Amino acid sequence: MTKKTIQALQKQIGLEAYASQLYLAMASWCDSEGLAGAAAFFYRQSDEERQHMLRIVHYLNDSDQHAEIPGVDPPPNQFESLHEVFQQVLQHEQKVTKAIHQIVQLCMQENDFTTWQFLQWFVDEQHEEEALVRSILDKFKLIGDSPQGLYLIDREIDAINQKLLNAPQQ
Ligand SMILES: [Fe+2]
Ligand SMILES: [Fe+2]
Repeated sequence: MTKKTIQALQKQIGLEAYASQLYLAMASWCDSEGLAGAAAFFYRQSDEERQHMLRIVHYLNDSDQHAEIPGVDPPPNQFESLHEVFQQVLQHEQKVTKAIHQIVQLCMQENDFTTWQFLQWFVDEQHEEEALVRSILDKFKLIGDSPQGLYLIDREIDAINQKLLNAPQQ
């Protein structure tokens, strides 16, 4: 591994850690708004982001490096609406996808094929996560933002939770 790829992975640890805190803040907000389906969705997403962070920590340490654990900026805790929450999620996931792609590109430049291979899981994961968030944003278009619509969307998100719960763990 080169200094550059190590630094990029260190930075990615911070991004995944921030995502975990961001989704935890969103889970807590949804919980306080009585949106049980969305709250469960974000508690789970928060755990997943922590797992992403740990993947990189273990990868660095297994590669004879020392993964350093960064501090994380406080996430927002107040949101206008559930719709706005999901718009922010899409924005954040797009930012993470871009960051992953940049590290993949760096690995090619640095001839770090092992890290390139390690990152392919993240490339797939980002593609899946963006698709999932887009499918939820589509529901706002279809069902609308009314209180009844919100109730329906929350139930739809809970149906997604059940599907994810039954999916095999990666
Ligand atoms: Fe992630
Ligand atoms: Fe993510």
